[in-house]
Amino acid sequence: PRPIFMSRHGESEFNMQGRIGGNAPLTPAGRVYAAKLCEFMQALYPAGSDLAVWTSTMVRTGETVAPMTGVYDVVKWRALDEIYAGKMEGLTYEYVAQHMAGEYEARKTDKLNYRYPGRGESYQDVFIRLEPVMFEMLRCRTPLLIIGHQAILRVLYAYLKRHTPQECPTLAMPLHTVIKLTPRAYSCDEEWFSPLE
Ligand code: F6P
Repeated sequence: PRPIFMSRHGESEFNMQGRIGGNAPLTPAGRVYAAKLCEFMQALYPAGSDLAVWTSTMVRTGETVAPMTGVYDVVKWRALDEIYAGKMEGLTYEYVAQHMAGEYEARKTDKLNYRYPGRGESYQDVFIRLEPVMFEMLRCRTPLLIIGHQAILRVLYAYLKRHTPQECPTLAMPLHTVIKLTPRAYSCDEEWFSPLE
């Protein structure tokens, strides 16, 4: 069975500042990861292989996938854009905890169903938004790399690994890590890699 690789984008300016959402570019460390990720994939799938690469339409994923342009077939999905945090976009987690304590507590209490105010999304909303991607992901007959975002990859990973929706919003999804999932009859085999090492 063909594997599904997933990786978050390289570290962004907002990751470094602890800010929610936004559309920030990569830091120098994030750009190093982008180059290493491309090298890592090329060691497994030489240029021109049938590896499909899917990513979002955001700046940080665009910069992460940039070294792979012309190497693989890259598709950008708007459905893969990060969870939209509405009014909290661009704020730090610390600011929200201090100045919007009610909202902060509400999200902590029920992260799956908490919907950010100001037309924002919940993880539950993201599940629904990702349904077409999950459908195509299962139909895809070639190896696949998804360069995504923390919340997005938690949802796709939870789906493939059959975690409950409740578990999904707190699953570990670190930066600068590649997760390889190989679908089996009832779940997926799993391997983690650190292309920077
Ligand atoms: O911190 C990076 C990030 O991708 C944010 O843009 C996004 O709001 C967040 O992760 C999602 O993770 P959590 O649901 O744990 O806040």
